[in-house]
Amino acid sequence: MAMSSTTATVSSTPDDAARAAAGTDPVITARLLSKTFSHGGTQQHVLKNIDLDIDRGSFTVIMGPSGSGKSTLLYALSGMDRPTLGTVTVDGTEISGRSEDQLARFRRDHCGFVFQQIHLLDSLSVRDNVLTVGLLTGRPRREILARADELFDMVGLGPRDQRKFPSMLSGGEAQRVGIVRSLIASPAVVFADEPTGQLNSEYSRVVLDLLSRVHHGGQSIVMVTHDPRTAARADRIWYLRDGSLRGHLDLPRFEMESEDRLATVNDFLAEMGW
Ligand SMILES: Nc1ncnc2c1ncn2[C@@H]1O[C@H](COP(=O)(O)OP(=O)(O)OP(=O)(O)O)[C@@H](O)[C@H]1O
Ligand SMILES: [Mg+2]
Repeated sequence: MAMSSTTATVSSTPDDAARAAAGTDPVITARLLSKTFSHGGTQQHVLKNIDLDIDRGSFTVIMGPSGSGKSTLLYALSGMDRPTLGTVTVDGTEISGRSEDQLARFRRDHCGFVFQQIHLLDSLSVRDNVLTVGLLTGRPRREILARADELFDMVGLGPRDQRKFPSMLSGGEAQRVGIVRSLIASPAVVFADEPTGQLNSEYSRVVLDLLSRVHHGGQSIVMVTHDPRTAARADRIWYLRDGSLRGHLDLPRFEMESEDRLATVNDFLAEMGW
């Protein structure tokens, strides 16, 4: 299969004028984003002047070596953590400089999170953990219940699993609950950091298929992964090294997985020094 629309570039600075002319609509814009951590007198510059636009409705993957700053970037883009310098706009809201309360409300209304650390409320059943988040949106109860049933069904958690409490879950079950919870409010952007890290291949596929469906439905996804096969589902892959974006690969949107697609990703990663 031809990969005609595939381009690999080593530029990381989006050309605002060109994008405006092309009529793209970024769901996330980061400008001169920097994050510095201080460890007893020394400073570590983990993110360095990152400029990034993420198109609305796109499936974006961030790859790079361990320690390159991928999770830090995801936290900064999603309002989970504050950058040291720079600005981030998500779904039309400038999130830099907001108070903790404003950020929490912003995340609740616009973002879904699929992280390896799943913080479920121990005193609530699996089902109630999910419904609580859904009902906070203020949407009709009937709609939230129907969406919960659909999502639980898709990740293979039946009524008996939904009655369990978080302490009774395996790592993989907890991760699947976390994914259902992150999607219940139909967020504009779903942020995922190694979302299949604790799942066997069957459930990895279930989760990735679920994210692909969400993407096809028009929601945006920003995902960190180490797995080229997982990355091959994206329509843009960014490569981060030493806190700077070194290049990106564009892949045809909404195309099925294929060995060609995976080979293109592997070629790009080799070019980036993966
Ligand atoms: N809260 C923190 N305080 C101090 N240093 C931090 C903090 N968070 C991250 N770092 C440092 O920033 C660097 C980048 O960390 P980050 O977690 O973003 O890497 P990563 O690319 O996600 O790596 P991995 O692939 O291993 O998950 C690391 O050297 C890490 O030690
Ligand atoms: Mg990480």
